[in-house]
Amino acid sequence: MKLLLPDSLPLAPTLPAGVTAVVYDAAAPVPEEHLDAEALVVWGSSRADLAAVAGRMPNLRWVQTLAAGPDAVLAAGFPGDVVVTSGSGLHDATVTEHALALTLALLRRLPQAAAAQAEHRWAPELGGVQPLRPRGAVTTLIGSRVLVWGFGNIGQTLAPLLRQLGAEVRGVARTAGRRAGFDVVAEADLDAELASTDVLVMILPATPETARALDATRLAALPAHAHVVNVGRGTTVDEDALAAALTAGEIAGAALDVTVVEPLPAASPLWDVPNLLITPHAAGGRPVGADALVAHNVAALLDGEPLRNVVAR
Ligand SMILES: NC(=O)c1ccc[n+]([C@@H]2O[C@H](COP(=O)([O-])OP(=O)(O)OC[C@H]3O[C@@H](n4cnc5c(N)ncnc54)[C@H](OP(=O)(O)O)[C@@H]3O)[C@@H](O)[C@H]2O)c1
Repeated sequence: MKLLLPDSLPLAPTLPAGVTAVVYDAAAPVPEEHLDAEALVVWGSSRADLAAVAGRMPNLRWVQTLAAGPDAVLAAGFPGDVVVTSGSGLHDATVTEHALALTLALLRRLPQAAAAQAEHRWAPELGGVQPLRPRGAVTTLIGSRVLVWGFGNIGQTLAPLLRQLGAEVRGVARTAGRRAGFDVVAEADLDAELASTDVLVMILPATPETARALDATRLAALPAHAHVVNVGRGTTVDEDALAAALTAGEIAGAALDVTVVEPLPAASPLWDVPNLLITPHAAGGRPVGADALVAHNVAALLDGEPLRNVVAR
């Protein structure tokens, strides 16, 4: 079996006898001489380069993306009988770090401190003696209510850390229940949760069902002191509605690691929205444990066993 590995990260999975690994340039379409491969690992390829070969690999049985969100590979148009597996689980720690960093930056007012520093101004409104729970503001995770919307691998890694820092954490997923020691509500019951949410952390995949999931109505249901953090996918937030809510002071702040259009164009009005912190899709970007996942799925494919992280489609 020919297995194509991208050159965008060092990969050295343990492979069974009979598997030939070929490294390809992830900055270009798979070259003609390797379109006969049966297995393709994807990391960092552009959507256009994937679409250019998706229907031209007659022997292809399996595509492993190392991204947690398989949206780019699904959009490329690989035939329906090609098994697609995601990299969910490879980004739990890094995206958790970033979600925590963004949440704390908002609550601890780091953008305001950076702005004051640029003016060489010791900002008394940001420091000194202060109440733990100031009226109309949330400035610490202690005693805060955090709602994690998208309670999968990353959400369940983040939630215990938020709890450790004093937050009361609940999750939102497609089905309700108790997961990893946390109460999870179904999306149908989300609206009832929003009014008592201090921080809404979104870690949703890009699917037709999640498009603009956070819309004007749901933003209006949040308290004025609430903060929103999105480390999932940009499509899950109605950016116009978010900009309007921040501009009108209907929520206190937001942080976006992902936007509908990436890279965010220099002319985008989002850059100048008040109390909006933007990072350039910086949360993940470095799959941890990719060799083990690829090795497991290659062996499973050859043995006719179930693969890990199969994407329903
Ligand atoms: N910013 C970055 O650099 C970065 C890096 C990695 C990943 N991500 C994004 O993070 C996403 C989540 O990653 P993950 O590994 O945690 O994925 P995951 O384990 O598959 O978890 C996804 C979660 O979203 C929930 N969900 C899906 N559709 C929903 C809907 N319509 N309503 C409510 N909940 C819904 C799922 O609910 P159920 O559990 O009920 O199915 C699950 O809890 C990825 O898809 C990717 O887009 C971003």
